Amino acid sequence: MTKVTMTVNGKAVSGEVEGRTLLSSFLREGLGLTGTHVGCDTSQCGACVVHVNGKAVKSCTMFAADASGADVRTIEGMANPDGSLGTVQQAFQDHHGLQCGFCTPGMVMSAAALLAENPKPSEADVRNYLEGNICRCTGYHNIVKAVLAASGQDVSKIAAE
Ligand code: FES
Ligand code: FES
Repeated sequence: MTKVTMTVNGKAVSGEVEGRTLLSSFLREGLGLTGTHVGCDTSQCGACVVHVNGKAVKSCTMFAADASGADVRTIEGMANPDGSLGTVQQAFQDHHGLQCGFCTPGMVMSAAALLAENPKPSEADVRNYLEGNICRCTGYHNIVKAVLAASGQDVSKIAAE
């Protein structure tokens, strides 16, 4: 077992992990942060995306030990300090960017990482960036609309679906 320490959503945390423990497992089972979803464990679906040192990472592709010392943010860390939904979360709600919600934590984390890199993305930029996030429900249209709205762009001319 290896001791890991990291900052998760602004708090210092530590735990004992096996070398093969995935970051997704450490977050969910070690820290109880079950907002990070695991849909495949094989790097396909993107439900497990978190931020590691500000970059979107599929947490099922990273060993917890390799995240030791890192600054990690999960969906639980995306709300505003007063507990209200953060900008990207609110846009998903406002524009019906979710149905069952399984993919949503990963979508929100990927979208937030995109907007940090590219504050005014085009529709093509959003579709391209979210290519690694699979949604079985929405057909993606409203997710893309929500991300554009979260960037402050006028989405009133984009048809509802
Ligand atoms: S659970 Fe990590 S990509 Fe699907
Ligand atoms: S909302 Fe159901 S998988 Fe995306």
